Amino acid sequence: MCHSSTGGDRTAFPDTFINELVARNDIVDVVSGYVRLGKKSGSNMFGLCPFHSEKTPSFSVSPDKQIYHCFGCGKGGGVISFIMEIENLSFPEAVAFLAKRANMTLPEQEDDRESKKRSRMYALNKEAARFFYEQLLSPAGAQAREYMAQRGISKATATNFGLGCAPNAWDALEKAMREKGYTDFELFDAGLVKKGRNGGWYDTFRDRLMFPVIDVQGRVIGFSGRILTGEGPKYLNSPETLVFNKGRNLFALNLAKKSKSGYILLSEGNIDVVSLHQAGFDSAVASLGTSLTAEQARLISRYTDQVIIAYDNDGAGQKAAQRAIAILEKLELKVRVLQMSGAKDPDEFIKLKGPEAFAQLIEGSENQTEYRLAQIAKKYDLSVDAQKLDYLREVEDLLARRPSAAEREIYCRRIAAQVSISPEVLIGEVANRRKRILRQTAAAEGRGSPTRLSQPASGSERPLRYDDPASAVAEEGVIRLLYLEPELIKSDRLPAAEEFSSPALGHIYSVLRTRLAEGKTVSADVLGGELEAKEVSLLVSILQKPEALSNAEKALDDYINRIRDRRRARERGRDPMQIYQQRKEELEKHT
Ligand code: CTP
Ligand code: MN
Repeated sequence: MCHSSTGGDRTAFPDTFINELVARNDIVDVVSGYVRLGKKSGSNMFGLCPFHSEKTPSFSVSPDKQIYHCFGCGKGGGVISFIMEIENLSFPEAVAFLAKRANMTLPEQEDDRESKKRSRMYALNKEAARFFYEQLLSPAGAQAREYMAQRGISKATATNFGLGCAPNAWDALEKAMREKGYTDFELFDAGLVKKGRNGGWYDTFRDRLMFPVIDVQGRVIGFSGRILTGEGPKYLNSPETLVFNKGRNLFALNLAKKSKSGYILLSEGNIDVVSLHQAGFDSAVASLGTSLTAEQARLISRYTDQVIIAYDNDGAGQKAAQRAIAILEKLELKVRVLQMSGAKDPDEFIKLKGPEAFAQLIEGSENQTEYRLAQIAKKYDLSVDAQKLDYLREVEDLLARRPSAAEREIYCRRIAAQVSISPEVLIGEVANRRKRILRQTAAAEGRGSPTRLSQPASGSERPLRYDDPASAVAEEGVIRLLYLEPELIKSDRLPAAEEFSSPALGHIYSVLRTRLAEGKTVSADVLGGELEAKEVSLLVSILQKPEALSNAEKALDDYINRIRDRRRARERGRDPMQIYQQRKEELEKHT
């Protein structure tokens, strides 16, 4: 995940507040609410890691340092990170969670007037949703109820989603909300009324089946209304408001985030989502009438690392799927794509073939490589040799970009068999193309390595891939020393972040250094306001390694020298360790 994008709202809390919050939420107490901790080795307590499955405890909590670290999966951080991770919350949400736990009031974070306006709008939206819901049950909702019956939406499902109905009238909502004390201007700002030519106001949503859009914190932020009778667009959505941004929210994520399925099912339509949930697929969400945005993908990545795309079975849907795959893969999400045959969308599929058939579809869903290969194959007539070659060229390009060597080989063999050529030839071609692509991207990115965030060093699932491990060890050392001995910030030899070989470590270092230079304190918790969760984990794993503090200045000097030596070596394009290793091997050969 991109480590350079630290959320703008994360630093909004003053350090003093965060420090008090952490002091009042002892990490051992908080973690004990989720993990059974036993006393063990030294001052650390151990338990079974809640973030990966294991049989022997490798999850440690340090009461002294107020941090946790899992030696198995590498996750780690302070009490705020822990709550973010285990409750699936953002940094500000986790802060609010812990503030509530400790009976603290949150500091005002934004301009008072704006925040009041926002909370009025949330309240108004909630009232409006309640109004629509009541209408659905009233005589005015007869037509909507009939429509729901026709589409097979049960009453329980309607309640689960808070579905409602906007009556066939010009001012039903306006009147009802005015009675509750909201002004026409407030209704207008919330997108619920429009201004008529005669200067009066009229309801935006009329004669429609209403889907409230609810954010992950359970607030009604806007509406989507499906037409029932008459003319007009099939769907009408709330306009962008102070609290509603289509590209940053997903329909039904408030429900899907609680799913135990382990994946998010991404579909196109509101009706599809409703149908899917009703059939037991409770992790279905939809983007709100737009193609998937990077922000929506990031939102999804907070809850799962697996996405199954169930878009419409038409050309537009398949095209949208391609775009979504690219966006999701950037965030290292595992993507699979459903291939529904004999139905135009998930709703129809479930109606025609039943939930079991849909479950089987998920079971056998193609990973995105298979899906893309199938898409490419469709374009060519493989009985014609010339087309075979074009096909292979496209396939080679696709496979050359797959990061996993095993994956490349498996598909090379499969494709080779399909077009009856020797697998070795195809494997060779893909390898060559891959080299070329890697060279090109390296050149495009300049000296710097790809800014991929490395995994923490200590026994994590995915091994740490530093470009220059020897330098990275020293870079970790500098970070560890500065964290443990803030006095060292006075050293006039401190390197620039750009001298670091690892972009991830460089970023952690620069945040740490800036804070210390400003005379601020450092802890996993306050740093959590400026670093991504993965960076906090990396930092905590760095802190796990022993450091001799008795001669910290000398140690710091040694690390800095190492970083600079390595850097010079890289710039010369020669690796002294490699040369040394070579020499050693040569010597050994001769003796
Ligand atoms: N959409 C929209 N504006 C439109 C049409 C569609 O915002 N004029 C959005 C809605 O969020 C809709 C989604 O795009 O749910 C998919 O559109 P579509 O497939 O037409 O709607 P469904 O929800 O599948 O409804 P139905 O099954 O009734 O066609
Ligand atoms: Mn549809």
